Amino acid sequence: MTIAAGNWSPLTPMPGMDDSEFERWASLLEKRTGVVVPLARKAFLVTSVRGRMRETGRASFEEYFSELHRGADGAIEWTTLVDRLTVHETHFFRHPPSMDLIANDWLRCLPEKTKQAALHAWSVGCSSGEEAYTLAMVLDRHLTATTAAKVYFGVTATDVSLPALAVGRAGLYPRQKIEEIPIQYRERYCELVDGDSFRISEALRKRVGFASFNLLDAARAPLKRLDLIFCQNVLIYFARDRRRELLATFANLLKPGGLLVLGSGEVTNFAHASLRRVDNRNVLAFLRNS
Ligand SMILES: C[S@@+](CC[C@H](N)C(=O)[O-])C[C@H]1O[C@@H](n2cnc3c(N)ncnc32)[C@H](O)[C@@H]1O
Repeated sequence: MTIAAGNWSPLTPMPGMDDSEFERWASLLEKRTGVVVPLARKAFLVTSVRGRMRETGRASFEEYFSELHRGADGAIEWTTLVDRLTVHETHFFRHPPSMDLIANDWLRCLPEKTKQAALHAWSVGCSSGEEAYTLAMVLDRHLTATTAAKVYFGVTATDVSLPALAVGRAGLYPRQKIEEIPIQYRERYCELVDGDSFRISEALRKRVGFASFNLLDAARAPLKRLDLIFCQNVLIYFARDRRRELLATFANLLKPGGLLVLGSGEVTNFAHASLRRVDNRNVLAFLRNS
């Protein structure tokens, strides 16, 4: 894309964004990703857009907005901007009760023939991969422990942020993050690279596939008959109606007996004819009816 530098210099003051301009940018983000930025978080949106404008020498919100709608260059620029406009905070074992539910309740009760047929999990809005690797560690460790036969499983990890997906694919994380991983998993699945970083073991990395995928296309997801859908800290950014539509889509993508695990704030008073709520007060989860 040609950079609209004009008379811009690093000292050019950045324009202010009035509320109607903010609405235009917030609507664009919602239309393209489902993520809602309320007026109370205007500063976050303005800082993110301005940051990218500074980097690329753009000085006008209006011009930048138009450029984003212009052909292939606009689409490429959007892939960078969307990463700045979305929140990527994530951790290994971010919500331990969810992992306990998967390991101690769900996996233990799965019929042996299901386990032997290969399990497929989806980490929805996986950010830089910590959640997907956590799922892979839990599945690997507990499937090996509970089944004599060699069990195949795979985790598909999807997000709209290309930089976050690249981190996930590399499986390389700052050393201090290893503290988030319980010791019994650390020893088995993590390798220290140097004083600053560690890597997820190759065997586990092979179980996790990362792909760019926009949740707004969930109804056309190239995934089906999933055993486990894990979606935490993603739908909270979406409008209520959109959350419910997505949950109905998730229900259709699950196999009978499949498990949907959500973050506790992801939805309230949700019910679906194909799903029954799992009786666990620490985890918001649903099982697909047989
Ligand atoms: C706060 S992170 C949550 C990461 C992880 N699930 C966790 O709980 O630790 C939210 C992620 O959702 C992703 N996201 C937001 N809108 C999305 C969309 N429409 N499609 C796919 N991913 C999306 C963001 O890029 C971000 O990485």
